[in-house]
Amino acid sequence: MTPAEFEFLSGFIRARSGISLADDKIYLFQSRLVPVLSRHQFSDIAALVRSLRLSTSGPLADDVVDAMTTNETLFFRDRLPFDHFANRLLPGLLARPGRSGAIRIWSAAASTGQEAYSLAMLCAEARGALGGTRVEILGTDLSPAALARAESGRYTQFEVQRGLPIGMLAKYFTKDGDDWVISPTIRAMVKFRSFNLLDSFSPLGRFDLIFCRNVLIYFDIDVKRMIFAKLAEALPDDGALVLGSAETVIGITDQFTLHPELRGIYIKTRASQSGRR
Ligand SMILES: C[S@@+](CC[C@H](N)C(=O)[O-])C[C@H]1O[C@@H](n2cnc3c(N)ncnc32)[C@H](O)[C@@H]1O
Repeated sequence: MTPAEFEFLSGFIRARSGISLADDKIYLFQSRLVPVLSRHQFSDIAALVRSLRLSTSGPLADDVVDAMTTNETLFFRDRLPFDHFANRLLPGLLARPGRSGAIRIWSAAASTGQEAYSLAMLCAEARGALGGTRVEILGTDLSPAALARAESGRYTQFEVQRGLPIGMLAKYFTKDGDDWVISPTIRAMVKFRSFNLLDSFSPLGRFDLIFCRNVLIYFDIDVKRMIFAKLAEALPDDGALVLGSAETVIGITDQFTLHPELRGIYIKTRASQSGRR
């Protein structure tokens, strides 16, 4: 791949997804675009780039963006945020004065759905505490391929062995051939839709709690700052944002502050205290 082709492709990916790929990521284009080349019958990356230069929208463009997303995820990833959710965040939401209506939770880079379904299983476990309170979990992602898998609720043996406690597998999944399928009750608690974090969040409405984990690491500081501002708008004062273990707000925004006790949890700063950086 020539430097000009790399520059074009990385600029295209950044504009479409926010994903920032430094020069040392040439190999990533080379390996990830192999299936795209064969699907669209290009002999090499130069031919693909020539076609993309003519039109940066349409099936080829969508396929290139999808190929450059990293969809790595697992059930109860890093465990701790899910313990915080079950033991502190969900009880806190239920106890909030003046609370009414459903509790809305957003898994903002849902990938193949394991994060959203992990939250749904914990809500099912907390049925007693929830009483009649409805929980709506929305999972969104840019990648159509990842979302299709999330929507199917179907996982391989390998995927259910990563992070999912055996008791939950037995309780909330049924075996179908070589795969495991999530139970209709858990499936019904989660909605999935295609959504780009670069777009306006307004059509999604507001949330009581947002999981936005292991996606901001792919963005540069300006994109992160812009997304934090929109996340803050989508939450109430004191609303909680859950980030991945390698992500932080420090040095980027003062619209969130680290929870004093819960690692990885950030609380929306009250408007009057925030300098809106
Ligand atoms: C590594 S996965 C994280 C999955 C899950 N949140 C977790 O922590 O296990 C990152 C996801 O972010 C998605 N993504 C990347 N850029 C995005 C964007 N601009 N808008 C929405 N999703 C995006 C990718 O498609 C990918 O599925």
